Amino acid sequence: MMKIDILSLFPEMFDGFLNTSIIKRAIDSSLVEVVIHDFREYADNKHKKVDDYPYGGGQGMVLMCQPIIDCLKDIVTKESLVILMSPQGKTLEQSYSQKLSLEKHLVIICGHYEGFDERIRDYVDVELSIGDYVLTGGELASMVVCDSVIRLLDGAIKDISHEDDSFSAGLLEYPQYTRPYEYDGNSVPDVLMSGHHENIRKWRLKQSLLKTYHKRPDLLKKKDLSQEELKILQEIQKND
Ligand code: ADE
Repeated sequence: MMKIDILSLFPEMFDGFLNTSIIKRAIDSSLVEVVIHDFREYADNKHKKVDDYPYGGGQGMVLMCQPIIDCLKDIVTKESLVILMSPQGKTLEQSYSQKLSLEKHLVIICGHYEGFDERIRDYVDVELSIGDYVLTGGELASMVVCDSVIRLLDGAIKDISHEDDSFSAGLLEYPQYTRPYEYDGNSVPDVLMSGHHENIRKWRLKQSLLKTYHKRPDLLKKKDLSQEELKILQEIQKND
């Protein structure tokens, strides 16, 4: 079972996330245990203060070392990977979520206010961002990380292979259809009704490549394309 400890000043933000749908089911079936730690409880001052003015002056408050590091000392073992959510971190990608899903113990620190005392970084293995924008705190970002990791745990999603996920193979996912066959004059592509598995596979691969070519050409530059993929892509480029 994977264990995830999250350090946050706002534990109530996690209630909906942990008590809904696939994440709740993964917790209920013991695929993962998630514990939220309010690190304010570790503040060793009378007023349970967790932040203070920055040395050298400047705007805003800075999270102090002591509460976070004392909380970490209670939680972290040799098996832990300590993650700091921050817009300065490396950007989360599907391939990294896959790596994280193999870990035994994730410890995720959520910051708030204007920043952290730099010395907190000495206790951190990885600094992780969810994109180039600034959130009011690391909570939403930590939930994004947890969600993308937990759904990859064996048994979290019934009967589904993650190989078809967008990004898994470095491509966007092909278009999907369900009933009705016709809606508002638009019908389902014939090939999907044919029952011909090889033709369906080829069509889906071509659609994946088409979508990626038009929406995310940057992904194609990063990907090692197979002979088959290269051939289809050359056709797409010719007709563009
Ligand atoms: N905290 C604030 N903004 C963030 C971001 N973009 N990613 C991760 N943590 C954050």
